Amino acid sequence: MAQHHHDEQHEPFDAVDVIRTKRDRGRLSPEEIDWVVDAYTRGVVADEQMSALAMAILLNGMDRAEISRWTAAMIASGERMEFSRLTRPTADKHSTGGVGDKITLPLAPLVAACGVAVPQLSGRGLGHTGGTLDKLEAIPGWRAALTNAEMMAQLEDVGAVICQAGSGLAPADRKLYALRDVTGTVEAIPLIASSIMSKKIAEGTGALVLDVKVGSGAFMKDEGQARELARTMVALGTDAGVRTVALLTDMSTPLGLTAGNALEVRESVEVLAGGGPADVVELTVALAREMLEGAGRTDVDPADALRDGRAMDVWRRMIAAQGGDPGAPLPVARHQEQVLAPADGVVVGLDALAVGVAAWRLGAGRARKEDPVQAGAGVELHARPGAVVRAGEVLMTLHTDTPERFDRARAALAEAVTVAPEGSRPPERPLVIDRIAAD
Ligand code: URA
Repeated sequence: MAQHHHDEQHEPFDAVDVIRTKRDRGRLSPEEIDWVVDAYTRGVVADEQMSALAMAILLNGMDRAEISRWTAAMIASGERMEFSRLTRPTADKHSTGGVGDKITLPLAPLVAACGVAVPQLSGRGLGHTGGTLDKLEAIPGWRAALTNAEMMAQLEDVGAVICQAGSGLAPADRKLYALRDVTGTVEAIPLIASSIMSKKIAEGTGALVLDVKVGSGAFMKDEGQARELARTMVALGTDAGVRTVALLTDMSTPLGLTAGNALEVRESVEVLAGGGPADVVELTVALAREMLEGAGRTDVDPADALRDGRAMDVWRRMIAAQGGDPGAPLPVARHQEQVLAPADGVVVGLDALAVGVAAWRLGAGRARKEDPVQAGAGVELHARPGAVVRAGEVLMTLHTDTPERFDRARAALAEAVTVAPEGSRPPERPLVIDRIAAD
């Protein structure tokens, strides 16, 4: 095979050969993978070459050994954190993202209250799913950026930290994810799995629980695909020595009764106070049990720590340690409008994607990475599937600082709620669909 434009004398492979191998459904060797990820990070493999390779991977896949090596190469592009000096074991959670998914907020302090340290590196929202950092930034004074030393000190002292991932963690992933975003190659399971797991493994957690969402509001709409993603990530974590399990959970309807930054903080605090919507409590406790089990603490029941206020105490200390005032009033949007029930009957459907898009259009989310978000914007739900409603009753309150956004939000919600005649029942859907552990 012909050689191509070798400007660099010392590169052991040619990018075009690597692309051709995957284009023709071949396997990439460990050495080729190490090289292509490293050379891309160094700028020797060009964006257009990595785009072609990403598309070949999307179309032709990678096997378990290739994905594992690809993940290791992305980890090796940056620093690894190390928590073995802590007096407590560590556990973390990653969610593939959903509408109203504020679970990290009550979960991190809850698990810490049970004796396991939680080093949660989070991101910001893009598109219709919100980001944990955006939610916490609704709290006056709270800051997302910590140095590694501050993070370590807070983990030892408070036991939980939710902060922004530093730029040193898996830089290859940051560059590749931005490229995938603009080349139609986000949706490749090997690339999603290696992207998520490279960051979680580099973060250095001892145990990891993955919340893989399925349904209209999720990244993976299809259960088969969500299962494959979950299995792939569990295998990657396990191979890297991280005790990893995944829960497959429903995202056809929003979690809880709020979608939007300050609204979700308020609901999380209700859960920490022992109240809050049943589905949010159920998932928080289910994920806490898995994290505690992964960290070897099967002797404690997280439901107790929610009930007796210990999780709330950790929440307050966690927020205060990052400059936030846990007692300060949360921002409220300047304008509200209501969405009313069209008829008498039973709510049998409430579409997660529609609610997520509406919250986003109201200003809770961003279209581009640089955009600001409105702390108070979002959707508050007053009825969930199963609720009996009367025509004209308030189903939702829409919140925004910029009332010109109401029309577009209402357009997103046009088909969001299905009201069926009285006596109807919504389809039975368990919140936790399955648990996937290493084989
Ligand atoms: N989240 C990530 O971090 N990476 C992906 O590829 C997809 C979702």
